[in-house]
Amino acid sequence: MLGPDLLEGKVGLVTGAGTPYGIGRECVKKFAAAGAKAIYACDLNTSSISSLQEECKRAGYATIIEGRLLDVSNEEQTVAIVREITKIHGRFDFCIANAGFANYRNLNDTEMVHYDRQVNVMTRGVFLAIKYGSQAMMVTSDLKPQPGGTFVVTGSCAGFSGAYSDLPYAVAKTALHGMVSSGSAHLSSSNIRVNGVAPGFTKSSILTVSKDAENGEYKNDLDEDQLKENHMWFFERAGLLKSPEYFYNRLQDPSEIASVQLFLASDLSSCINGQMILADSGKTAAATGDACTGPIPPIKPLDLS
Ligand SMILES: NC(=O)c1ccc[n+]([C@@H]2O[C@H](COP(=O)([O-])OP(=O)(O)OC[C@H]3O[C@@H](n4cnc5c(N)ncnc54)[C@H](O)[C@@H]3O)[C@@H](O)[C@H]2O)c1
Repeated sequence: MLGPDLLEGKVGLVTGAGTPYGIGRECVKKFAAAGAKAIYACDLNTSSISSLQEECKRAGYATIIEGRLLDVSNEEQTVAIVREITKIHGRFDFCIANAGFANYRNLNDTEMVHYDRQVNVMTRGVFLAIKYGSQAMMVTSDLKPQPGGTFVVTGSCAGFSGAYSDLPYAVAKTALHGMVSSGSAHLSSSNIRVNGVAPGFTKSSILTVSKDAENGEYKNDLDEDQLKENHMWFFERAGLLKSPEYFYNRLQDPSEIASVQLFLASDLSSCINGQMILADSGKTAAATGDACTGPIPPIKPLDLS
């Protein structure tokens, strides 16, 4: 079960997989390394999918990787993509509802159009994925005699704490906690699990592409190094660069989140259902950092003499 056959023969989709450096793209790579048969990488723009296909091919993965244009808040488009995948492959096994964006507006500057778009993409979009993806997971064929599947939605540390985002983003991501627990209950007689991963601060393209993504488009011609650099101002503002010796101030890599997505999508997590897993290196647990405790020294090694 562990290793390159973790997702052997499985077919599904990953949304928000279109940037050259992001959680969705890393998720596709991890799932391909785990032996998935076909992965549909969906986004508002698919121009980076060819480099993703090449990367996976170079790594020796046999997975079919297809790029598809999808606005996750659009019902017709969502139905069309899950129907297409299920018709072609005779199965639909996993759905990684990961698309999102984040703009930091204060309340004065937050208009209803901003609120509606965030909730539409990051909550309605996940609902649509669960509603229609679950129907596709119930389709059986010679290749898939038993119905079932797994959903992994991408929440956020902003669903756990109030100071990590603007207000509509927190609303959208917090709503996913209910979506995950309620979804797991409503799919409990269908052999379908629903879980989520809530990343903490993670290096990705999000701060670069969010302005366009909020308007339903994504045009990004920056390379990976530029994207990583574009995130540093925000990490500085968030205080992560001040005490880098603390584990909770780590700058997480998208592949670390993808590892959790793989775990939750696979049978390794068969006893986990209806949970939103916080993946923030302990940032939320540390809350005020060392403000109360004073500087936290490393533990002295055990005296072996
Ligand atoms: N990077 C972080 O620090 C962080 C922290 C917490 C949560 N998240 C969440 O992780 C997820 C992935 O983001 P990322 O950090 O990898 O950034 P990213 O920008 O690399 O990926 C997000 C992708 O979602 C796409 N997208 C936005 N709206 C869409 C829509 N309507 N339909 C289809 N695709 C759409 C964007 O075009 C982009 O490609 C998001 O849901 C985000 O909210 C990220």
